Amino acid sequence: MKAALLLVLTVWFNVQYGGCAFSSSCSLPLSKWCSSLDSAIQCGVLKQCLLSNFTRYHHTGDQVNVGLYYESLCPGCRMLLTQMLLPTWVLLNDIMSVTLVPYGNAQEKNVGGKYVFECQHGEQECLGNMIETCLLNMTDAGSAYQTIYCMESANDVIGAAKSCVALFSPQLKWESIESCVNGDQGNQLMHQNALKTQALNPPHNYVPWITINGVHTDDLQDKASNSLFMLVCSMYKGPKPSACGGSQRGFRSYSRNE
Ligand SMILES: *[C@@H]1O[C@H](CO)[C@@H](O)[C@H](O)[C@H]1NC(C)=O
Ligand SMILES: *[C@@H]1O[C@H](CO)[C@@H](O)[C@H](O)[C@H]1NC(C)=O
Repeated sequence: MKAALLLVLTVWFNVQYGGCAFSSSCSLPLSKWCSSLDSAIQCGVLKQCLLSNFTRYHHTGDQVNVGLYYESLCPGCRMLLTQMLLPTWVLLNDIMSVTLVPYGNAQEKNVGGKYVFECQHGEQECLGNMIETCLLNMTDAGSAYQTIYCMESANDVIGAAKSCVALFSPQLKWESIESCVNGDQGNQLMHQNALKTQALNPPHNYVPWITINGVHTDDLQDKASNSLFMLVCSMYKGPKPSACGGSQRGFRSYSRNE
């Protein structure tokens, strides 16, 4: 738990105070930092990785899926993503998977075979949703989450996108993101997000809207908003990882009313 927490704090401090300025020698996605001694050294997290490897458990139960239906510029969504969901995933990615659906309260219209979207917080939000949707489709989950974290924790979500991609998804050219965003691929992917959001049962009536293993209830939403970390640990059916045993200080602070 401590090791993993240090790892998260390292990420958090780097992003918060380094303005995404990671050491240039570490270009790996977050999920790969501990994959070898070399990468751990390059990314400056050797001590944390050794500790975390040392306490690692072999996990056998089905992963707990956390779904988040959100909008790129909604303040509560940004807080949930950056202060709760992604830090929890860093700690518990062995027992937890994440499904991000950027769409929320957007609306779509079919105009001549192409979808036109209207977003709650305007065109910029539609653009943010689209960039994140393209990222989720075009790169591995770890890189996509790290890049989305970088965007959502920046003051200017859209303005930060290009440098966040360069730092955290360096294998992707910005031009290829742009062509997804402006082309048929992005249009179709966003339509899929619309369908997934419209298929929610019960239908969402606010954002961020959380599902656990595809299920939404008031109780699950409340528990997730109070401590997603504790909820995932408690819902995981296999032997609990060591991270679940310790104190969860720092992961309780989010409430969706903030
Ligand atoms: C952590 O464990 C993995 C798999 O057991 C191993 O491949 C990797 O080299 C270890 N990382 C470190 C920094 O020891
Ligand atoms: C990306 O989107 C295409 C459809 O445009 C789909 O066939 C493919 O499976 C998606 N890939 C991922 C990783 O989601």
